[in-house]
Amino acid sequence: EKQGDDYVIGFSQCTGDDEWRRAMLDGMQRELAFHNNTKLIFKDAHANSAVQVKHIEELLQSGIQLLIVSPNESDPLTPVIEKAFHKGIPVVVVDRRTSSPYYTAYVGGDNYQVGKTVGEYANTLLGGNGKMIEITGLPRSSPASDRHRGLVDALATRPGIQRVATLNGQWEKDIAKNELRKALPNFPDLDLIFAQNEVMAMGAREVCNEIFPERKIRVIGVDGLPGQFGDIQMVYDGHITATALYPTGGEEAARVAMNILQKQPYQKENLLQTAIIDSSNVRMIKMQTDKMISQQNDIERQQARIDEQLEIYHTQRGLLYVMTGL
Ligand code: FRU
Repeated sequence: EKQGDDYVIGFSQCTGDDEWRRAMLDGMQRELAFHNNTKLIFKDAHANSAVQVKHIEELLQSGIQLLIVSPNESDPLTPVIEKAFHKGIPVVVVDRRTSSPYYTAYVGGDNYQVGKTVGEYANTLLGGNGKMIEITGLPRSSPASDRHRGLVDALATRPGIQRVATLNGQWEKDIAKNELRKALPNFPDLDLIFAQNEVMAMGAREVCNEIFPERKIRVIGVDGLPGQFGDIQMVYDGHITATALYPTGGEEAARVAMNILQKQPYQKENLLQTAIIDSSNVRMIKMQTDKMISQQNDIERQQARIDEQLEIYHTQRGLLYVMTGL
């Protein structure tokens, strides 16, 4: 029998192979570290929906008390997530959505707003006139369709900006590069590429440099990931023009999960805000995120020292007991 605050949470991640998702997991673990007896079982489906369905079945069988899930694609994952919910296992959906209302809470960025903000920004950037290509993520994953819808709506009232092609980059750098290599030669007068995530934005910049090295086609990405390999650094270095912040929601998801488990109040919809990061604010944002990273490293070092001290204490306590019986 489980007692008190002894919880097991299953976390089914659609893919764990990129920095953004590592940051999400780190955030979750940092938050859960405040709860002593909570265990997180992590499964990475490597962008395969069938594998992710299997993972969730396994987690349900192993007796988790709550499921956190970022569904690779909405439709294929919906039935198994509904099944968890109907079994009475609370479900916290993060970042990507299912196609059903049967979940306990959602935590993630406002993807429609991301697309809309980028559309408005692109219009201002190009002075109301120009040609753009959009590179989307997996079309059946909700951030891809929501970002696309937001972009289309923003451009509907800005007819000077023409979306000349929409490519399917599946969220992956190499796939985005291949698609762009095929399409880009047809648009020598292209002004801008909107890539729906940071890795595809990086890929887009590389292909532009290959095919039109003499032109400076602007690239806008999404994610706003801090650190050496993130897209904040890419904006800072001038490789891309801008990126739309898309917080991972790792900490928030863990917090909502714990509230649900501990029968505390929580909200069903937890939408995280977006903002454009470009040359006008990137210095400040980079300073702050660099500081945040160094503080997190300090906390980890302190934790390691506390663990060491505890270990020494327990050894000495044991010795004292052997010697004196106290
Ligand atoms: C990471 C990622 C992010 C993107 C999100 C969308 O795996 O591709 O770059 O914003 O997933 O779900």
